[in-house]
Amino acid sequence: LTLFCARAQMPATNYDESQVPAYTLPDPLTTIAGKKVTDAETWTSERRPELLSLFESEVYGKAPGRPEGLHFEVLSEDRYTLGNMATRREIAVYFTESDAHFMTILLYIPNKRTDAVPVFLGLNFKGNHTICDDPLVTESVSRIKPREEGGSEVRAKGFPRAAAASRWPVEMLIANGYGLATIYRGDIDPDYDDGFQNGVHPLFYREGQTKPAPDEWGTIAAWAWGLSRAMDYLETDEDVDASRVAVIGHSRHGKTALWAAAVDPRFAMAVSNDSGCGGAALSRRCYGETVARINSLFPHWFCGNFNRYSGNEAALPVDQHELIALIAPRPVYIASAVEDRWADPKGEFLAGVHATPVYELFGLEGLSGTELPQTDAPVLSGHIGHHVRSGDHDITLYDWRQFVKFADKHLKR
Ligand code: GCU
Repeated sequence: LTLFCARAQMPATNYDESQVPAYTLPDPLTTIAGKKVTDAETWTSERRPELLSLFESEVYGKAPGRPEGLHFEVLSEDRYTLGNMATRREIAVYFTESDAHFMTILLYIPNKRTDAVPVFLGLNFKGNHTICDDPLVTESVSRIKPREEGGSEVRAKGFPRAAAASRWPVEMLIANGYGLATIYRGDIDPDYDDGFQNGVHPLFYREGQTKPAPDEWGTIAAWAWGLSRAMDYLETDEDVDASRVAVIGHSRHGKTALWAAAVDPRFAMAVSNDSGCGGAALSRRCYGETVARINSLFPHWFCGNFNRYSGNEAALPVDQHELIALIAPRPVYIASAVEDRWADPKGEFLAGVHATPVYELFGLEGLSGTELPQTDAPVLSGHIGHHVRSGDHDITLYDWRQFVKFADKHLKR
């Protein structure tokens, strides 16, 4: 007996390398018109804009730029926090002229500094107050699915302080001379399918518009847009060196970090941790999470047009190696975990391998090597860094230590 529902029709998740379909990746160095790109200038002026616009219209959706009314307000400052090692600031970024809609950046700056510092910037899942044990951080207001719609009561009450501290080694970053800026993603757009009613989307609807058009921003593009608005603020903060900001994210926020860096060249470096499908993993491998599954489980993440490629990856005009390539010549770190097969570690690695020719156009080494390296043996030499960590889906101190080593090479003076 066949059950006729979308999930039942989904093929079983493939974790067998021998079942990966034969595929041909689109060539980042051939334009739509068939012209070969052989120099960095043609890449930058012709091919990159063309690819970026394909990702916009077919995958993540177009976002508005910087709104005219965008403005900032420092809500709090504490110069002696984290054992006097850091200064903490909380900044409201108001999305329009009014003060009604805003996100709050939580920013830590090392007190031991002689100059403006490089910063890691990333979204958090559970609220700014959950990232470390600092009792004075303002609690983020949880924006989760309402209980009547199947959301959970426990989560609606908010997460406890420091609940996500294992994912945010603030002290280690401070000790290494880095600032950290983070934002609760729910301040930008809640992470459930609300018909795009409760986040930033409605602020930018045209007269009569009630939802994004099929080529307009989904939630990932909205989160990435929020990261660019955070960058707008960081450019004004004299303790931050805005030319040395690394955008980072785990999992769905890893997808977001890559897209943010692709769209916004002000980000000097990008870090994707376990970003998987719609992040660093090649869609055409159909290993672990697939386009069909991600579109059915998270219908709000991508733009409407991305549904065309559910079960139809071969028709995609792009693949995720080209997302990495859009970040060239800036450094990118792709981190995977060996047990996180859902995110397809090998597919993430291969995206780095196939983005490498674009780095080479700039005379840079991309990802060194073409065979999946051993577990826990980071590859830090080129402009695409990579590791497969032992263990499962998570972002750990081990991961961050590699990101800092990589950043030391590329962002330290
Ligand atoms: C789910 C989803 C992934 C995503 C992950 C996460 O597993 O299928 O695409 O990366 O959640 O964000 O943790």
